Amino acid sequence: MKRMGIVAVMAAVLSMGTGAAGAADLSIVLGSIGKDVEEMRGQLDKFQAASGHTVSIVTMPASTTDQFGQYRLWLSAGNKDVDVYRTDVIWAPQLAAGFVDLTAAMQDVLPQHSPAIIQSQTVDGKLVAMPLYADAPALYYRKDLLEKYGKSVPKTWTELTATAQEVQDKERAAGNAQMNGFVFQGAAYEGLTCDALEWVASSGGGQIVSPEGEITINNPKAAAALDMAKGWVGTIAPAGVLGYMEEESRGVWQTGNAVFMRNWPYAYPLSASDDSAVKGKFDAVPLPAGEGGQSAACLGGWNLAVSQYSENKDAAIELVKFLSSAESQKARALGTARLPTIPALYDDAEIKAQQPLVAQWKGVFENATPRPSAPTKAKYNEVSQQFWTAVNKTLSGQGDAATNLDALEKQMRRLKRSDW
Ligand code: GLC
Repeated sequence: MKRMGIVAVMAAVLSMGTGAAGAADLSIVLGSIGKDVEEMRGQLDKFQAASGHTVSIVTMPASTTDQFGQYRLWLSAGNKDVDVYRTDVIWAPQLAAGFVDLTAAMQDVLPQHSPAIIQSQTVDGKLVAMPLYADAPALYYRKDLLEKYGKSVPKTWTELTATAQEVQDKERAAGNAQMNGFVFQGAAYEGLTCDALEWVASSGGGQIVSPEGEITINNPKAAAALDMAKGWVGTIAPAGVLGYMEEESRGVWQTGNAVFMRNWPYAYPLSASDDSAVKGKFDAVPLPAGEGGQSAACLGGWNLAVSQYSENKDAAIELVKFLSSAESQKARALGTARLPTIPALYDDAEIKAQQPLVAQWKGVFENATPRPSAPTKAKYNEVSQQFWTAVNKTLSGQGDAATNLDALEKQMRRLKRSDW
């Protein structure tokens, strides 16, 4: 009888936080941008029906920087209320300690995914997150306006600058006072690190910190790239671009008030939707190159990690497996143009037919430029913060690029000390 008692107590303990018949109540936390939350809810409903578990969504602000700050606090406090975190591709080395090693649980499905993405989520042999989707940006352009003024799609930033200025001026002269040449992400947050990395890398100015950990950002090509971007603010880009994140740029673009936009693939189906002023009037191509350089797309993307503090780890792992599966990634690509991390899906006939940008973006994503989160490890967020601050200052006219990059290098050296 005593033995039975212990078993009963053990069973009660094990079922804590779970409902009837081993069904768990899970929660997943994610930032809201475009239709991501809506799309997630649809997938969670399918998971609930198939598994018997229930999943609620905790919604975060759109900025990845804000999410990171909150997640770091929750994880350091051992928060038990969140089972699954949607994590940015750059966070793996910094948040690894708070997450469960998924290597064994995902063994059978790992070979389907891009090895580079899996590697980016592996820290000291521990698989800290499974890919949900990858991200690599595009240059969105107004086909109708380029045709109207006999312009071709720009291949370099110099061409973009000239075309944006000319079309903006002519449209304004024709009474379209709200028209802007170019919108991008200029706010002081992680998104600006992405945009500025693209300007710098595409001009031959390197990747801020090299893959070997060397601080390379203080160079003339990088400075020239930032000076070029500074020249856009208040001319082809509205002064307000210094406060824009992804959704603010899309807002201007989708109401028909920009000739060009830098944004991620999620903006494509939204721009093509019935309530969009640019429906049928736009297309997207890889970003322009700097003079003598090559187009560079910042590698982005989101993953799913299981909290070390979850009381429902098995069910949470099941959820992660479901959401990162080929079936789920295909539905996500079809619904929201989020890029699969499973290369085979780029040959899928339905994706090709329904989301042309996704089908064309395999090469862009495979050749994308990573941010230096691997070499700078736990210090990446500070490195990025120092970088985006220097860039935002330069764009707003507080010091020129060369001076600001010089100061940035010194700051980064202090942060690095002898090693990252
Ligand atoms: C996108 C990318 C992510 C990046 C963020 C910056 O969400 O997928 O990797 O950090 O934009 O705003």
